[in-house]
Amino acid sequence: MRATLPKPFTALILAALLGACAHPERHGQEIAGFVPGLGEIMAQTATRHAKLWFAGQAQNWDLAAYEVDELHEGIEDAGKYHPTHKQIRQPIPDLLALYLDQPLAELDQAVTAKNQQAFIANYDKLTAACNACHQATEFGFNVVVRPSFNPFANQAF
Ligand code: HEC
Repeated sequence: MRATLPKPFTALILAALLGACAHPERHGQEIAGFVPGLGEIMAQTATRHAKLWFAGQAQNWDLAAYEVDELHEGIEDAGKYHPTHKQIRQPIPDLLALYLDQPLAELDQAVTAKNQQAFIANYDKLTAACNACHQATEFGFNVVVRPSFNPFANQAF
């Protein structure tokens, strides 16, 4: 006779397998174990936004390029992990693209050209775009501004 597992074990294993596959789209996140909330990603985004300003002020274009890249990555994660959010009707990835694609592309150009004037103009456009999305999603009380002082005591700009 073929060796078989006792029935209760078979049932348990089946249940575990089915459970693991019930939400395939969430599988990767569960393995990673931690999914940052949209608010967390936004707080990180705000840090990058501030560091970008000081990099541009110092004309540290390598650092500025890095921070623009990090902004892109954070925005990508925001859309990937939060396709929808609370009462917001539009898909989050669509909103992010609508508001941020152009200002980020223009900032990219200014940084590559090491053009500080263009950098400042496009930085302000990006900030306005952040706030426009907050307004559109009823989070308008989250107001982003140019940072007024540098709180990053342990980083050289
Ligand atoms: C989808 C449109 C959208 C765009 C574009 C956007 N945000 Fe947000 N932001 C939100 C939403 C929604 C929340 C509230 C999330 C929550 O419920 O916790 C938020 C929250 C925040 C917060 C509050 C986080 C906290 O915990 O204090 C900050 C700061 C912030 N965003 C910064 C930014 C910055 C900087 C940019 C631009 C680089 C930006 N956001 C672009 C939608 C957006």
